[in-house]
Amino acid sequence: MSDTLAAAQVERHLRGRFGKPYLYEPECESTQLLLLGSGLPEGAVAATDHQTAGKGRHGRRWVAPASTSVLASVMLHPPAERQLPELSLVAALAATETIEAATGLSAQIKWPNDVMLNRRKVAGILSELSDGTVVVGIGINVNQGHDDLPADTTTLAGSLRSLTGQVYGRAEMLASLLFRLEQTYDAWKGGGLAELYGDVGARDFLRGRRITVDGQPATAIQILRDGRLEVATGNGHGETRVIESGEVLFER
Ligand code: BTN
Repeated sequence: MSDTLAAAQVERHLRGRFGKPYLYEPECESTQLLLLGSGLPEGAVAATDHQTAGKGRHGRRWVAPASTSVLASVMLHPPAERQLPELSLVAALAATETIEAATGLSAQIKWPNDVMLNRRKVAGILSELSDGTVVVGIGINVNQGHDDLPADTTTLAGSLRSLTGQVYGRAEMLASLLFRLEQTYDAWKGGGLAELYGDVGARDFLRGRRITVDGQPATAIQILRDGRLEVATGNGHGETRVIESGEVLFER
């Protein structure tokens, strides 16, 4: 059976509400564009085997050869009282757990929205707001070989295959991701990030690392209970700062 994220392959593994409806295109510009402004209900999912204009954060491209990755977007209708920036961590936790379950290895969350395995970025999250709904896009590098990975990224990229030597079933992985996202999302809806803080904090990749935040040197202290990043600034004179958003680079 060929490896594809077509409905027939993914739907038989679905276990919860997410994935209904399930929109699949063999190729599209970006799965985000299939859902943004669509008016579809919460839990609607768009997936593809190849994006010709995949969107990353900070206006970058998300590039992956056809049929190597999990590429999916999920429609969410979050309650008004919740802090929407926290959703990236909610999705990053679900992606991290999915990767851990598949590989048997520990994965980490690099604030605010990357998943790291063996110090390589193996997954990224893009959350986009439209009319009170949020489309959360998740890309997991699954079966790329070393030469298929982008070399021009600010954080070194890896795939599950490049790091473990194994090939993984993408359809089953996507269904597992959707089920875990439903669980982390439901917990967050009920009580905010505090409900997930133990699981997020235990996987905090940046904690204690020398970093730059939008070009400024600092040391990461921790992801806070409200999802922001606490850092010690500059020269170690005990000053701390709390970061709401931005690009964080770490020393290798
Ligand atoms: C990042 O780390 O910059 C975020 C990458 C998000 C990529 C995913 S792949 C599925 C969805 N569709 C897109 O165009 N982007 C997201």
